[in-house]
Amino acid sequence: MATIQEEIHKRRTFGIISHPDAGKTTLTEKLLLFGGAIQTAGAVKSNKIKKGATSDFMEIERQRGISVATSVMTFEYNDLKINILDTPGHKDFAEDTYRTLTAVDSVILVIDCVKGVEEQTERLMEVCRMRNTPVIVFINKMDREGQNPFDLLDELEQKLNIKVRPLTWPINIGSNFKGVYSIYDKSLNIFNANKTKIEKEVVAVDIWSEELDKKVGEKDANQLREDIELIEGVYGDFDRSVYLSGEVAPVFFGSAVNNFGVQELLDTFTEIAPSTQARKTDVRIVEPEEKKFTGFIFKIHANLDPKHRDRIAFLRVCSGTFERNKFYKHVRLDKNLRFNNPYNFMAQEKEVIDEGFPGDVIGLYDTGNFKIGDTLSEGELMQYQGIPSFSPEIFKELMNLDPMKSKQLEKGIQQLTDEGVAQLFVQPHLGNRKIVGTVGELQYEVIQYRLEHEYGAKCRFDHRDIAKACWVTSDDEKKLTEFVRLKAQNIAQDKDGNFVFLAESEWILRMNIQNNPDIQFHFTSEFKRAVEA
Ligand code: G4P
Repeated sequence: MATIQEEIHKRRTFGIISHPDAGKTTLTEKLLLFGGAIQTAGAVKSNKIKKGATSDFMEIERQRGISVATSVMTFEYNDLKINILDTPGHKDFAEDTYRTLTAVDSVILVIDCVKGVEEQTERLMEVCRMRNTPVIVFINKMDREGQNPFDLLDELEQKLNIKVRPLTWPINIGSNFKGVYSIYDKSLNIFNANKTKIEKEVVAVDIWSEELDKKVGEKDANQLREDIELIEGVYGDFDRSVYLSGEVAPVFFGSAVNNFGVQELLDTFTEIAPSTQARKTDVRIVEPEEKKFTGFIFKIHANLDPKHRDRIAFLRVCSGTFERNKFYKHVRLDKNLRFNNPYNFMAQEKEVIDEGFPGDVIGLYDTGNFKIGDTLSEGELMQYQGIPSFSPEIFKELMNLDPMKSKQLEKGIQQLTDEGVAQLFVQPHLGNRKIVGTVGELQYEVIQYRLEHEYGAKCRFDHRDIAKACWVTSDDEKKLTEFVRLKAQNIAQDKDGNFVFLAESEWILRMNIQNNPDIQFHFTSEFKRAVEA
């Protein structure tokens, strides 16, 4: 039997992120094909929300079904256990993606070579940069007439605030695309457009040899030599340790739909990507090798059957060995819990497991005990960090349309916000007015639909003039109490009882920051990034 060190060493837990349509689903599927986890193309469904879906509730249900099925995809490759954590591409679910990024050890970022760096990519990368998550970039759709690869590299560096280092290099692009040269292992991979089979012609070549001219023609061979010389001059040697510290992103070129460049990506990924990393709690850093089990919940998913209100909580194991049927401490509730049927996710099925190791993601049936960010331990009082709520962008008041069902509504909104669908702010001074904050309009439709179908409660959302929500704290307890009293109309409490200032406009927020130097205003619930006045 493998030791815990060997188990940790075997694991690669990562997320694939991209702007919608860049090719995340296609790449995921190809990785699973190479890994032997699925046999046919088309097995991984896109979790994209189709256009016009905001009023199409079947679409919302379909999307939820897919996101349960694809939340985690596990496969074995070269004796490694690879866990891919799925991230929703739709902007309205961005917060879900941010949280998933707290549970990965590295990231693969997919870029469309025609479109370059898009808005969603910038935001996702900001989260990776905050946590120094190692990133590999895959520039996709090289079979299309895209931008010049050097320009793409410059754009990556400028917009994503990270240094890059190409490890493969394309020979032409679009209809003239001939393949890629692997700078990393000095071999040439000739492009054959093939969507269904993996057909490869990989040859080790010295780029200064005549063989290269024979393979790609003299003109392209000379261009490649020139490009490689330039790359080596400009970008220097590839150093794995700077990749691991999140400072340099290795770059690969390919075409996911044509199975091209994917194996190089996977092989290099398995070689250089980090295995399970240590993680921060509020009291100390926990190393994966520690004997005692610890982990945290980064995602909660409602059961798709509305008759069963139980949910699936996704646990990331951080240290020790998680065992089925053993009691663990739920730190926030100070309660011991055990799990009869924890399960593991293989590509298309789930199986009950007896144990899990650091880096693994385990599905736990939950009857309402968990909130996102909860920590489980063998007794130690600690809370994993880095699972913040971000300041929402849209705010609406929840209006009950059926007074007979207020209990159901209350329970429903509590549970849905525990799942992280949206954030709930209650204003005690205004008759417990409930403000629901989200990052996208779509969530209101989802909440309304689910409250009705799962909890039998009818509601409406009324627009409220709130531009920003900031968590407020102070080193001086009295000053905070005074501020909360004076600003009662603008004060709400989040689910953990923290005070939140709801500002009607950016201007009002700025004025309040200026006028209240003893109060700290924060953009995330983690109270790290103070707002600059
Ligand atoms: P996403 O998950 O990031 O949103 O993207 P997804 O994989 O669904 O890919 C978006 C579209 O881009 C798909 O086309 C897909 O086939 C196409 N695509 C992916 N990789 C490549 C590539 O290397 N080259 C080219 N030319 N296209 C690529 P679609 O028309 O939206 O869907 P489908 O009908 O082809 O599935």
